[in-house]
Amino acid sequence: MTITPETDPFCTPEQLRGHVAALLDRSRTRSTGLTDAVDEGDLVAQHSPLMSPLVWDLAHIGSQEELWLVRDVGGREPLRPEIDGLYDAFQHSRASRIELPLLTPAEARQYVAEVREKALDALERSPLRGRRLEHEGFAFGMIVQHEQQHDETMLATHQLRAGAPVLQAPEPPPGRRLAAREVLVPAGVSIQGTSTEPWALDNERPAHAVSLPAFWIDTHPVTNGEYVAFVEAGGYTDPRWWSAEGWRHRTAEGLVAPRFWERDSAGEWWRRRFGVVERVPADEPVVHVCFHEAAAYARWAGKRLPTEAEWEKAARFDPATGRSRRYPWGDESPAERHANLGQRHLRPAPVGAYPEGASPLGVEQLIGDVWEWCDSGWHPYPGFEAFPYREYSEVFFGGDYKVLRGGSFGTDPSAVRATFRNWDHPVRRQIFSGFRCARDASPADTADRADAAGLP
Ligand code: AVJ
Ligand code: FE
Repeated sequence: MTITPETDPFCTPEQLRGHVAALLDRSRTRSTGLTDAVDEGDLVAQHSPLMSPLVWDLAHIGSQEELWLVRDVGGREPLRPEIDGLYDAFQHSRASRIELPLLTPAEARQYVAEVREKALDALERSPLRGRRLEHEGFAFGMIVQHEQQHDETMLATHQLRAGAPVLQAPEPPPGRRLAAREVLVPAGVSIQGTSTEPWALDNERPAHAVSLPAFWIDTHPVTNGEYVAFVEAGGYTDPRWWSAEGWRHRTAEGLVAPRFWERDSAGEWWRRRFGVVERVPADEPVVHVCFHEAAAYARWAGKRLPTEAEWEKAARFDPATGRSRRYPWGDESPAERHANLGQRHLRPAPVGAYPEGASPLGVEQLIGDVWEWCDSGWHPYPGFEAFPYREYSEVFFGGDYKVLRGGSFGTDPSAVRATFRNWDHPVRRQIFSGFRCARDASPADTADRADAAGLP
C-alpha cells in the first residue's frame, strides 16, 4: 500500500514528501508522453472546437502549479506574470484559445520545467502540516490531480485528432461472466462524501448521512452489445425513450449512435479509437455517449440511471459493517488489479475483468473504465465550503450539468475516489463517458430479502 497520511497516520513528513514527489513525477511523465507523441503542428492545432490546443493544456498545467505551489506555498515572485491571463480558463473559451499569443511548444516545455523545479523546492520547505492549504500536502495533491485531469482532457483531444495512431498500451485483462446482472442495495442510511480524506476536493466535503429506499443497480456498466440492441431496436428514432430536452438534442444533432461509431453496408458497427478503426467489441462498456443517450437507453431497458447518492452507496456501502469505504474493494488505494485506470490501457476493459474491484454487494467496474452518468445535477453537499478557490466547483453549481462518477481508463488513480465528483454538460460525449442502470425496488423485493435473512 502506498504510504500516505490517510492510510498510515504515522507517515512522516519525509515519507509524504517522497510520495508527493513520485506523484508529481508520474503526472509529468504522462503530460510529456501525451505532448511528445505528436509533432509541433499537432500541438498548436485545434483538433475540435470542444478542446484547447494541446500546448495550451501543457502551459496551463504549469500556470496552475506556479500559482499554488510556487507563488502561494513557495512564496515566490511570478516567473512570467504577463502570461497569467492567457492560461486562465475563465478568460478564454476552449474554442478561442487558438487565437491567443500562446507560448510555443518549446517555450511551454521550458516554462513547465522551470515551474516544476521551484515547486519541488517549495515541497522541500513546506512543513506539510499546519496551514490548511499545506496540511497533509493538500496543495500538492490538488495540483497532482489538476495535472492528471488535464492529461485526461488531452487524451480526449488525442481521441478527436485525425490521423494515424500515436499512442500505445497493452490490452486490458480478459472479461468473465458475472453471476448476476443486478443487485439489491438495501434501504437505509449511509455516508456520502468525506471529511477525512486529505486530498478530497472541496465538492466531496463534508461527509453527511443520506437515507435511501432500497434500489437495484447493475453489476456492470452497459456494454456495447447491449447498446447496439437499443440502436437496432430503433431507440434513436422513438421519442418515447427520450426526455423532451434529449429528443430536441438528438434531432438537432442527428444522433444515431455513440460518437466515433459508424455502420458499414453489411450493417456491422465499427469505431475509431485513437486512430485505429476496429469492430465495436460487444462485451466492453459503451463509451462516448451523452447523458441524454444514457437516459434514453435506460428508459428503453425499463430502468433508469442511478442518482449520484445511489451510485456512491453502491460503491462504498458495506452492509456487514454499515460503514462507507474509500473504494468499492476497501480502503486500499487503487492497484492494477482493482481497476482500469491511468491510461494503462487505451480502452475500457470487458465486463468481469476486475473481480478484485467488486464492492461488498458485488457491483463491479465502478472505478475506472468509463465515467458513469448519474441522474443528478451539479449541486453542493450540505455544509459545502469553497476551498481553496471558488472557480474549481462553486461557480458551476446549479448550472446545466450532470454528475459523472467513478473515473475512466484515462483517469489517474490519484484523481479519482469513490467520493470523487465530476460534472459536465448533458450533451457532452467526447469525454470517456458511459453509464450503468438502476431501478426502484418493489415492496416484494425487500420483503423477499427480509424473509431470506429471517427478519420479521
Ligand atoms: C472537474 C473535470 C470538470 O476539466 O473542466 C481542470 C477539472 N478544473 N481545471 C474540468 C478542472 C480546472 C474540471 N472537471
Ligand atoms: Fe485547469
